[in-house]
Amino acid sequence: MSEPKVVCIVGVAGFIGSHLLEKIIREQEWTVIGCDMVPPTKIQQLLGAEKKWASRFEFHQMNITEDVEKLEELIRKSDTVINLAAICNPSEYIKQPVNTINSNFTDAQDCIKFCVKYNKHLVHFSTCEVYGRTLSSYGLPASDPQNYILDEETTPMIMGPVSAQRWCYACAKQLVERLIFAHGTENNLKFTIVRPYNWIGPRMDYVPGVDGKDDGQPRVLASFMTALMKGEPLVLVNGGQVYRTFCFVEDACEAVVKIIEKPEKSVGHAFNIGNPENNIQVQALANLMIDMYAKITGKPKGTTKDISGEEYYGKGYEDSDLRIPSMRLVRKQLDWEPKTSLKDAMEMTMKVFIEKYADKLAGLKRVSDAD
Ligand code: NAD
Ligand code: UGA
Repeated sequence: MSEPKVVCIVGVAGFIGSHLLEKIIREQEWTVIGCDMVPPTKIQQLLGAEKKWASRFEFHQMNITEDVEKLEELIRKSDTVINLAAICNPSEYIKQPVNTINSNFTDAQDCIKFCVKYNKHLVHFSTCEVYGRTLSSYGLPASDPQNYILDEETTPMIMGPVSAQRWCYACAKQLVERLIFAHGTENNLKFTIVRPYNWIGPRMDYVPGVDGKDDGQPRVLASFMTALMKGEPLVLVNGGQVYRTFCFVEDACEAVVKIIEKPEKSVGHAFNIGNPENNIQVQALANLMIDMYAKITGKPKGTTKDISGEEYYGKGYEDSDLRIPSMRLVRKQLDWEPKTSLKDAMEMTMKVFIEKYADKLAGLKRVSDAD
């Protein structure tokens, strides 16, 4: 156990925030000041005066763009600030690109400013998406790992044209990374940038019509789970031909704790946090989830259907082809390795989704069948 710290988690009631909070509060003696604009549903299990960590955790429901004075006060009281707040769902990049850019760039400014002002360690959540597409997807030989393995210190960042609005998120994240780096150089900001690679686990996103809007399009895990639980085909965007490396959120949060614990190793760096062993084509992921769902529930195997990216997300959708993190820097600085296989991560996650949603979805399905 390391020395006591005060950690401010902005966006604590989201997917990553809920897991990070749980890990810190259960395994460290640190105090956590958490804030989020949504109610604390995903962290409900950790709240309550009777909890043994109650004196070490406070939650403030607030929008950081509206309650700037309060944000300043929370940051002033902290040692480390973790900024998770952002719009980070690809369907929103096409539907609301202005809000996406503002959320990821403009709204991150106050956290940066107050960390500079009070000399706090800022751990800012960026994305693996800042690399854009691989060099190999633009014709350089795929036989050379340099053309597809994404390294923090050497790989260029390649995105499509401005009209391909999908990249507005990645571009806003990239600019905020550059701004943070600039504050490091000019104003001695102590910073660490985290680039998550498709972290997955329980509590990720929402299920449309149950705890999210009816016409919502969550990220791939919740989208496939929704289809499986409703008995509908899993939708494969552009045939599910692209690849992703999925990292179990609990492994990933271990790396974040090391970043907070050891600023002497983490400050000044951007880290890939992902699991290169869990690389899979989206189509194969769908099949894995179909098989596993049938195994867990004993129900017949589900099906898939293809749809174009433009039809599913709208005009301006483009995609990353392959995202394999280099582990060079994170091994060297943090001595961190992910442990959980995709199969194990998926099985643990799917069981939690089924326990939480299956009955509610079956009810909804029965009502709509009757219509
Ligand atoms: P999430 O949407 O579950 O969590 C983000 C939280 O931030 C939400 O609870 C939201 O209410 C809150 N928030 C947003 N704007 C806010 C505001 N103005 N004021 C207060 N709260 C606000 O997303 P997540 O998956 O937990 O991702 C967290 C961060 O990690 C994001 O910055 C995202 O870009 C980055 N990221 C995540 C992944 C992943 O694998 N989940 C991958 C790459 C990057
Ligand atoms: C995500 C988001 O941009 C961010 O949350 C984050 O920065 C990052 O990637 C990450 O998690 O590392 P992406 O991986 O494209 O982007 O998001 P998903 O919605 O999880 O989609 C993964 C792939 O599955 C994409 O190719 C998408 O087109 C596909 N997909 C998604 C389907 O085939 N069917 C679906 O129902 C949903």
